[in-house]
Amino acid sequence: MAVGVSFVILAPQIAWLAMLPIPFILGGTSSIQAQLATRYAAVRDQAGRISDRLTNNLSGIATIKSFTAEAYESDRVYQESEAYRRTNGRAIALSVAFQPLLRFFILLGFVLTLYLGGREVLRGRLSVGTYGFMVFIVQDLLWPFTELSELMDEYQRAMASLRRVMGLLDTPQAIAPGHQPFPFAIVKGAVQFDQITFAYNGRYPVLQDLSLQIPAGSTIGIVGATGSGKSTLVKLLLRFYEVQTGQILMDGIDIRDLDLGDLRRCIGWVSQDVFLFHGTIAENIRYGSFETGHEQVIHAAKLAEAHEFIAQFPQGYKTIVGERGQKLSGGQRQRLAIARAILKDPPILILDEATSAVDNETEAAIQKALQVIEKDRTTIAIAHRLSTIRHTDCIYVMEQGQFIESGTHEQLLAKNGTYAKLWWVQSGEVFSV
Ligand SMILES: Nc1ncnc2c1ncn2[C@@H]1O[C@H](COP(=O)(O)OP(=O)(O)OP(=O)(O)O)[C@@H](O)[C@H]1O
Ligand SMILES: [Mg+2]
Repeated sequence: MAVGVSFVILAPQIAWLAMLPIPFILGGTSSIQAQLATRYAAVRDQAGRISDRLTNNLSGIATIKSFTAEAYESDRVYQESEAYRRTNGRAIALSVAFQPLLRFFILLGFVLTLYLGGREVLRGRLSVGTYGFMVFIVQDLLWPFTELSELMDEYQRAMASLRRVMGLLDTPQAIAPGHQPFPFAIVKGAVQFDQITFAYNGRYPVLQDLSLQIPAGSTIGIVGATGSGKSTLVKLLLRFYEVQTGQILMDGIDIRDLDLGDLRRCIGWVSQDVFLFHGTIAENIRYGSFETGHEQVIHAAKLAEAHEFIAQFPQGYKTIVGERGQKLSGGQRQRLAIARAILKDPPILILDEATSAVDNETEAAIQKALQVIEKDRTTIAIAHRLSTIRHTDCIYVMEQGQFIESGTHEQLLAKNGTYAKLWWVQSGEVFSV
């Protein structure tokens, strides 16, 4: 700024020449900046895709190996990396081309000042001293602009990352939490689904006009073909998704009005795909009920038929389960998850059983757990083996998002419908074993 002012005072006739490149520099900078922004955004997107692919591959490593798809996967990673190299190359090409361009304009200003200033000196209109000083300081006027390109490059790189982070932070929360407190102590556990319809994003409705009433303290069983919507139903109760029409009531209150944390605290959910955290068995059982003592952990494990296999490990409850519990069998994982839910001691318990994880012992665990823990709480048991839920108060048979039959085991057998057929098939299998 001071350089510019002194220039105008000393040699007004050529000061404009020295400043001539400045609008070009600023104009060029802003137009290239816009292009750089889109190119850097593309680079960040592509970097995101590579890390998605790698995460996917690492978690699916067993599948990749078993299908000997290593070459296929490494080719896919190669393709993504190539795409990254290309997009990055395009961004860098623009950014490196910009610097010489900038320097060219600066040099142009410099040369013009030198030439025209020199001519003015020859004509005697400018003193040699002023000219010398001018030539000296013109560098100070224009040279700082060279830093502009680097600054801008850094800025656009940082902005591209920032925009991604901000985009994530600005993502609207799909579930609006309610405000009505719902403390554990007052929960009775009556659940009612009232004519609900639900479809996952842009898909056909998974549940249609479905109603279900579960009195507080009762135990119901849900059976049905795979994909009929059983797990979806309980995920709606946990408010992982929002129903499109109808409402779900807990003790007569719409769950959308309830405090989300309170609602989830009163539900113990053993999900179909059990998730264990890296850590010890005890830590995993205690997950969510962090205050409980070791005795209670053992008690819960015994109820879930897990104590026996845990005791057989050399390190017992201190055994490390590995990432996602990979060092345990499917059934063992399932039983730890049941123990975890038992320890939580919730007014409402949901057991969503996966066919794959149901070995005989796990089924026994679920049955035993059901008998012991269904007392004084509402229990929803989703099962593939009908024997697991035959003693529940009411069994619902689900087909394509609707209940087609309901009643006790005996009532359903007497009806001789879908349930009865399933029962005969399954018990026939049992007999033939
Ligand atoms: N996150 C999701 N996004 C989109 N569609 C989904 C999602 N989860 C499930 N679905 C679809 O919803 C339908 C019902 O799925 P759901 O998991 O509720 O079935 P299910 O009755 O629990 O089956 P299973 O007995 O195999 O556990 C299926 O057709 C499935 O493809
Ligand atoms: Mg399911």
